[in-house]
Amino acid sequence: MTGAVEPLVTVLLDPDWASGSLVDDVRRGLGAQPRRLPPKWLYDDVGAGLFDEITRLPEYYPTEAERAILHEHAADIAAACDASTLVELGSGTSDKTRTLLDALRSPERPTGPLRRFVPVDVSDATLRDAAAMLSERYPGLAVEAVVGDFTLHLGQLPRGDRRMVAFLGSTIGNFYVEERRAFLGALADSLEQGEWLLLGTDLLKEEGRILAAYDDEAGVTERFIRNCLTVVNRELGADFDPGAFSYVPLWDRRMERVDMRLRAEEPQVVSVPGADTSVELMTGEEIRVEISTKFRPEGIRAELAEAGFEVTGSWTDRAGDFALTLARRG
Ligand code: SAH
Ligand code: AVI
Repeated sequence: MTGAVEPLVTVLLDPDWASGSLVDDVRRGLGAQPRRLPPKWLYDDVGAGLFDEITRLPEYYPTEAERAILHEHAADIAAACDASTLVELGSGTSDKTRTLLDALRSPERPTGPLRRFVPVDVSDATLRDAAAMLSERYPGLAVEAVVGDFTLHLGQLPRGDRRMVAFLGSTIGNFYVEERRAFLGALADSLEQGEWLLLGTDLLKEEGRILAAYDDEAGVTERFIRNCLTVVNRELGADFDPGAFSYVPLWDRRMERVDMRLRAEEPQVVSVPGADTSVELMTGEEIRVEISTKFRPEGIRAELAEAGFEVTGSWTDRAGDFALTLARRG
């Protein structure tokens, strides 16, 4: 017996979300030119495990850089905002978040300890495990997990109390430009004046280091990206042969982002019965699975200002690889 209170888990995704919403994405994304799939389909249980492995790869610097900022500055962040609820979007294992929670729960915090934590993720099992672990670790903290899609459910997240939304890991970099603008606008609309955003962004740096982080020696990123085909096979009965595709990570200098694609190595017709469609691919045709945008400090400020946020603080690691920006809804 630990005496810990069970976390509350609210499921906002429809029971058939994985198949239903994937049908639209497959019809719209794989039928279009250039062909693409949204990255949320990378995170089934296998994908969530592979992402966790990625965060520990020697080439993948963002996680450790963000962790270093939190170790050094979590107390400053906690003192600089008056939030009593922390909402974390795309929370995954909430591993780094514990450093932030420790600081926000401190009895010495001028505005009092955080009362509630709301982790939000599409990855049901990962979220439930993290919520249970955090309930146990922080007695007295109400953990209210939400299985939801942050592109659909911002308006349905718990309200009340002064909230801070943390969007860590540079997951914002996985949106295309227009999606990012729409997301920041929707996020600002979902917050009350005076509520907070803590945004993690991977900063622009030498291109060799960036590309290596997405093209690791051990091939974990390649397995992670390829896994989206297995998800479509399982959910929609498709017959993608993941081995018939090669992984192509590219640095797009103009857009300042990594572009992760799968390239057909042979001509193929893939049937997707669950979406009532088939996809014909020629040799060399590519499916864009994910982008990872790298940011300039002035760009972050401008985009936040455009969405209606006022930046009140920002911190980087010593090498200047990653930034955490604290902003207030104006
Ligand atoms: N925040 C963690 C995890 C980043 S990985 C970190 O910094 O390490 C991205 C996370 O976002 C995954 O857990 C994935 O399941 C989740 N995710 C991706 N798309 C999502 C969406 N549309 N809605 C909610 N969660 C999403
Ligand atoms: C979750 N997201 C910020 C990761 C990134 O770095 O863009 C996803 C990832 N894709 C491949 N490696 C990591």
